[in-house]
Amino acid sequence: MTPAQFRKYGKKVIDQIADYQEAIESYPVLSPISPGDIRKNLPKHPPEKGEAFDTILSDWQEKILPGITHWQSPNFFAYFSANASGPAILGDLISSGLGVQGMIWATSPACTELETHMMDWLIDLLDLPKHFHSTTEGGGVIQDTASNGTLCALLAAREKATQFKSNESGIQGELVAYTSSQAHSSVEKAVKIAGLGRKNLQVIEVDKEFAMNPNALEKQIKKDLEAGKIPAFVCATIGTTSSTAIDPVQRIGEICHTCDIWLHVDAAMAGSAAACPELRHIHDGLELADSYAFNPHKWMLTNFDCSAFFVRDREALIRTLTILPEYLRNPATESGEVIDYRDWQIQLGRRFRALKLWFVLRYYGKEGIQEHIRTCVELAERFRSWVEEDPDYELLAPSPLNTVCFRHKKGDRFNEQLMNKLNEDGKICLTHTRLDGKFSLRLAIGQPQTKEKHVIGAWNRIREMASRLDRS
Ligand SMILES: Cc1ncc(COP(=O)(O)O)c(C=O)c1O
Repeated sequence: MTPAQFRKYGKKVIDQIADYQEAIESYPVLSPISPGDIRKNLPKHPPEKGEAFDTILSDWQEKILPGITHWQSPNFFAYFSANASGPAILGDLISSGLGVQGMIWATSPACTELETHMMDWLIDLLDLPKHFHSTTEGGGVIQDTASNGTLCALLAAREKATQFKSNESGIQGELVAYTSSQAHSSVEKAVKIAGLGRKNLQVIEVDKEFAMNPNALEKQIKKDLEAGKIPAFVCATIGTTSSTAIDPVQRIGEICHTCDIWLHVDAAMAGSAAACPELRHIHDGLELADSYAFNPHKWMLTNFDCSAFFVRDREALIRTLTILPEYLRNPATESGEVIDYRDWQIQLGRRFRALKLWFVLRYYGKEGIQEHIRTCVELAERFRSWVEEDPDYELLAPSPLNTVCFRHKKGDRFNEQLMNKLNEDGKICLTHTRLDGKFSLRLAIGQPQTKEKHVIGAWNRIREMASRLDRS
């Protein structure tokens, strides 16, 4: 494709994306297709000869769009949001246009330096502990996902707990990791990948608000020490996936500090809320953390993927992950004056993700991001009050931020049917969780296009569908 053709088709593509944004509410939020429907409309083999770009452009709308679940719809209340925004899309497009692979500083200095700068900006924006700043022994890096941030933290913790010998000789002794029963499944996955063994993940009980019980954590650590095991890693969560519960990081941090255990704090969705001073209490105790991650790709208007990961001791992370084959040797690396982010992550190659984040932070500014967060939190509070006032419904958990866990009082089966009917109908999309064994509906508000009318619409829809189901 020549630059002239690229210009022509690029304009069409931007038009199609803008058309999509304008028409998004006309699509069923959850894709209604059945397994295999998309593939059956695709040729078995790749084309022998190249095809006209116009044909490709019309095919994606006809053959692919029906299989899309519309995460950017203002009526998408499922999982946690995956924000997209104009500036992020355009920043990502430029990043694709540059086609940069920023594995080391020398392969594109701006890719590394803008990333370091954006990580420092995020510290400023969220008022994160200064020990994560690039001018300290710590620092920040953009990972693809919070899952990989957790894995990197656990690997560094493993090495630190074994005097950096596990990388060399494999794990000697039984290292133990701790997290709450409400933590994200990525913690368990990391424990398996890091070679600790699933049985060495201690799942700590939670209190009635679904936050980790620190006394139970302390007790378990003592028990493991007495059994000759090595407590190595605690993952606390700020904003659990099920109900946005907030673990008591301060108390957990004190325990970790006393027992010399690495504390990772996973704030994948909730972290963005700290852009608003009145919500910053969610980070109480964070100064005790060894590492911390949150996803601008969830609630900070930045397209997937963009997960901000910070460490207190960059040496521990780098020593864990570094590898320097001859073909990557270069004077800048050897000078010790630059950051090579390939040593801060699992994979070697990396995209220029900082560009879209830079676009977002500049276009919206602190005020724009605060407004987005506050709108979501206020709408969730309003929704919560409607549930509270309706005698047919009950709340199942506190909602400190943007997610409300609730259900119709008619029990598990009724609520499951209600959710399925709502999603089939396509006007809204929401998902579920289980809290204290009870099937719970979960309404998470995180889309920048979601306005009060959409949340009112969702509540009316839920009640209408429940009445219909009740009558059937
Ligand atoms: C608390 C928490 N941690 C981790 C994750 C995983 O995020 P990612 O997809 O970035 O790995 C999620 C996803 O929703 C989450 O809610």
